[in-house]
Amino acid sequence: MASGLLAGKVAFVTGAGSGIGRATCRILARDGAKVIAADRNLQAAQETAQQLGAERAAALEVDVSSASSVQSAVAAALAKFQQAPSIVVNSAGITRDGYMLKMPEHDYDDVYSVNLKGTFLVTQQFAKAMIEQRLSECSIVNLSSIVARLNNVGQANYAATKAGVISFTEVASKEFGKFGIRVNCILPGYIDTPMVAVVPEKIKQQVVQRCPLGRLGQPEEIAEVIAFLASQKSAYVNGAAIEVTGGLK
Ligand SMILES: NC(=O)c1ccc[n+]([C@@H]2O[C@H](COP(=O)([O-])OP(=O)(O)OC[C@H]3O[C@@H](n4cnc5c(N)ncnc54)[C@H](O)[C@@H]3O)[C@@H](O)[C@H]2O)c1
Repeated sequence: MASGLLAGKVAFVTGAGSGIGRATCRILARDGAKVIAADRNLQAAQETAQQLGAERAAALEVDVSSASSVQSAVAAALAKFQQAPSIVVNSAGITRDGYMLKMPEHDYDDVYSVNLKGTFLVTQQFAKAMIEQRLSECSIVNLSSIVARLNNVGQANYAATKAGVISFTEVASKEFGKFGIRVNCILPGYIDTPMVAVVPEKIKQQVVQRCPLGRLGQPEEIAEVIAFLASQKSAYVNGAAIEVTGGLK
């Protein structure tokens, strides 16, 4: 049996094929959890799982924006380790930046479908499984963004969904507390992942200058806070929105 704060737990992580999701799988496994690395990109999820080994991790294809795909993922996740996940991390997310006057409707819809509706579908379906299985000490962690507070030009779709994730998290924390399920969200600043790799260099330099720590964050620095929220070290933290930005406001 694995030792560590999360020993005996199964975690389901979306967006696990890249960036923060992949780092989260690594840190949760380090802390003793068995991890289901779920992503729309199955190959990327498999790479994440392979890095951790078959005993500790399994990969799963899921499109969080599709109710039927998420429903299948619940059944598949249960089968992987013969146990429902008591930790869920909603890290799948996309950007489709552009000025509002020129934003195609599908860029708005796509970002909404993954970032906000996807968080809803995964939370709803996995919370149902947690309740049905009478699991205790459950934790759901959602990825919002500091952009929910900064409201940058060119990010009407993304900022609105990430602000929505904060409200959604609070509602979920109020509805699920009585079932022993805590729900919190994290607002990362600018983290060095493929999502930020496409941000123009000039903007990244401005961000670094505005950040008191003078650098981008690393995915592991978000994953460590996720691991804290997943563990009983944060047993009384519920409905919180935690900024992890190096002080960037
Ligand atoms: N990187 C940052 O600076 C930053 C800052 C604030 C918030 N965030 C948020 O953190 C989360 C992770 O970001 P990241 O930087 O790791 O991004 P990333 O682009 O590196 O990884 C996102 C992953 O999500 C997957 N994905 C996309 N759509 C999906 C879908 N419909 N179903 C399942 N998987 C899907 C992608 O395949 C990819 O593997 C996102 O929600 C993002 O909005 C990131």
